[in-house]
Amino acid sequence: MRLKGKTVVITGGNKGIGKAIAYRFASEGARIAFLARRPIVEILADMHSRGFDAIAIQTRITSYVSVEKAIKSIIEQWGTIDILVNNAASFSREPMLEMTLEAWHQVLDINLNAAFYCSKAILPYLVKNKNGVILNISSVTAKCGDNEAAPIYTTSKGALTTLTKSLARQLAPYNIRVNAVAPHAIVTQMGSEWTEDKRKQVVSSIPLGRMGEPEEVASSALFLVSDEASFITGETINVNGGYLMD
Ligand SMILES: NC(=O)c1ccc[n+]([C@@H]2O[C@H](COP(=O)([O-])OP(=O)(O)OC[C@H]3O[C@@H](n4cnc5c(N)ncnc54)[C@H](O)[C@@H]3O)[C@@H](O)[C@H]2O)c1
Repeated sequence: MRLKGKTVVITGGNKGIGKAIAYRFASEGARIAFLARRPIVEILADMHSRGFDAIAIQTRITSYVSVEKAIKSIIEQWGTIDILVNNAASFSREPMLEMTLEAWHQVLDINLNAAFYCSKAILPYLVKNKNGVILNISSVTAKCGDNEAAPIYTTSKGALTTLTKSLARQLAPYNIRVNAVAPHAIVTQMGSEWTEDKRKQVVSSIPLGRMGEPEEVASSALFLVSDEASFITGETINVNGGYLMD
């Protein structure tokens, strides 16, 4: 049980990678607080039936007021927070020449600003404990851009990677580690709109010759938040089947 007694806050854990992380962490003894857009009754019921400790707080992660309220409510219920996973994101395909100002700000709000809001609201508790971990779910597109993803998606992920490094430096004196994972080609709803041709093209560019599973991202996430990674901070781990080796 690598996370026994740890309290984890996760954004957007209702499906895909976030859901896999929530289940994996819970199976390692963590209690999970979902900051969820909508009620996630079935997931909570399933987790409780497995003996996992989990709650969901309906939160608008693009509003600092809403995030702060959610964090206070978790503290009231559980008294402490140990780990934050900034996972929620909105994928966008709008090319630069068609990008509206509204869409730009919307994606930035979800993919970057929300991570800042959650970190800011939780940090006083981590600092008080002189212990804590923040894990950001970035993307390979942060490192190499992308033809299909909108520039705001790749830019928001690039900023998240840089935020990871800056927070890692500034928070190290408080024994708070900040890391990221950069997935690529993971089987979730984000890639489900691909045509068969696109899927084949993606797979052919991956040395391991297949798409990844959300659980494979969860394994790297678990390593990074656990004590096994106690001397790792400011790092971004690629989870991409060898697509990008840097
Ligand atoms: N699937 C991939 O290949 C891949 C590749 C690189 C990075 N990622 C990253 O992994 C993370 C999880 O993505 P996924 O692949 O599981 O996709 P997904 O579409 O299955 O999940 C996205 C999550 O974000 C949440 N979300 C979206 N908009 C939100 C909003 N406005 N408020 C609150 N929550 C919101 C959703 O509810 C969902 O839980 C994201 O940060 C994504 O950028 C995924």
